[in-house]
Amino acid sequence: MTATTASSKSKDTRGLAGQTVGDTQICSVNQTSLIYRGYEIADLAAHATFEEVAFLLIEGHKPSATELKAFTAEVVSMRSIPDGLKTLLRDIARAEVGSHPMAILRTGVSYLSHFDEEVEDNGLDAERRKAKRLLAKIPTIIGYGQMVRDGKTPVDPDPTLNHASNLLWCMTGKKPTDLVARTMDVSLILYAEHDFNASTFTGRVIASTMSDLHSAVCGAIGALKGELHGGANEMAMEMLKDVDAFVSAGGTVRQYMDRAFETKQKLMGFGHRVYKNGDHRAGILRGWGLKIAEAQGPDSKKWFDLGDAVQKIMLDDKQIHPNVDFPCGMTYFVMGIPVPQYTPIFVASRITGWCAHVTEQHQNNRIIRPLAEYTGPELKAWNG
Ligand code: CMC
Repeated sequence: MTATTASSKSKDTRGLAGQTVGDTQICSVNQTSLIYRGYEIADLAAHATFEEVAFLLIEGHKPSATELKAFTAEVVSMRSIPDGLKTLLRDIARAEVGSHPMAILRTGVSYLSHFDEEVEDNGLDAERRKAKRLLAKIPTIIGYGQMVRDGKTPVDPDPTLNHASNLLWCMTGKKPTDLVARTMDVSLILYAEHDFNASTFTGRVIASTMSDLHSAVCGAIGALKGELHGGANEMAMEMLKDVDAFVSAGGTVRQYMDRAFETKQKLMGFGHRVYKNGDHRAGILRGWGLKIAEAQGPDSKKWFDLGDAVQKIMLDDKQIHPNVDFPCGMTYFVMGIPVPQYTPIFVASRITGWCAHVTEQHQNNRIIRPLAEYTGPELKAWNG
């Protein structure tokens, strides 16, 4: 069978579309709900903190007040990174080198693996300890890299701040307002877990060979970096800036969209493999971002107005809904976060889901090794 006939099957299963390839107790994703270990996403976004969700995913159950206090204190105490990594970051994160912050973060996690005494231990307890260490240190790597990139002096993590506020502090050297801090917290809750998405599946494939958690996380970061996955939040904002420039030059959003449709341009932050009637997370994050924009005034609110105009045309003409990355772009932008850090922030959250999946894989492992349908040339003799 040729590639053409494969793609012209009545049901297009390229990219494993519509195929269930394993089971998990961590998360359920379907048209009507997104559930982390039995808790619905809107409930978590309204009533939980990111620390509680991180505990839920890594440890497997909702924390008691005592468990949460101990978990939070332990993670806060693990935030520092080795001096050798700081030296490396001062080299690779310089603006002149031009590396994407996701590539820097991937190198940072790989570096940490060399100094984690439990790196080769795939047991349940060791993996939970490693997950907490990565959760604690990833914002420090992100922040250190951004400060070097900006030519500023990096700041130390602040033990008085929660995960969300400390992440913002490390990246910008500024303490966030309560509204900005809670918006970041909610965005981290929304991004924490999403069953067998591309990066998590990558991590599980690596783990299934009985390779280690750090290797699985490095692979997952590589998968998340792409614009069809996590990288879409950055590309969504770049697209909105493009729309803004087009409108400022006398065009209309309608004209921009018609041109995009004619040239078959993919609009970043729209569409989803599973959610064909809308992404549960998008409306929640838009609501928080809009609150910040309205508090800041018209210059910030304009991004949400432009986004709404793009979203309406996309829905009316193509029946394609925004995914979480679309409001994320605008929200992080009005929060003053540099665009290339949007996907690393995703990592600062999704590390919890990835680690939960690696552990689940290791606890009930069978190597992930599917089959391929051969579509190459027929058999022929080398000396024929
Ligand atoms: N812009 C324009 N057309 C689109 C888009 C889009 N963003 N998304 C889907 N379509 C079209 C697609 O071209 C196809 O049309 P046709 O049948 O005429 O070829 C149809 O809708 C079905 O889409 P698909 O490509 O079969 O969908 P998929 O399940 O293979 O891919 C996706 C899903 C998310 C990769 C895709 O929608 C996309 O590339 N979106 C833009 C990137 C993006 O926002 N990614 C973030 C995903 S959600 C969060 C995350 O993982 O980070």
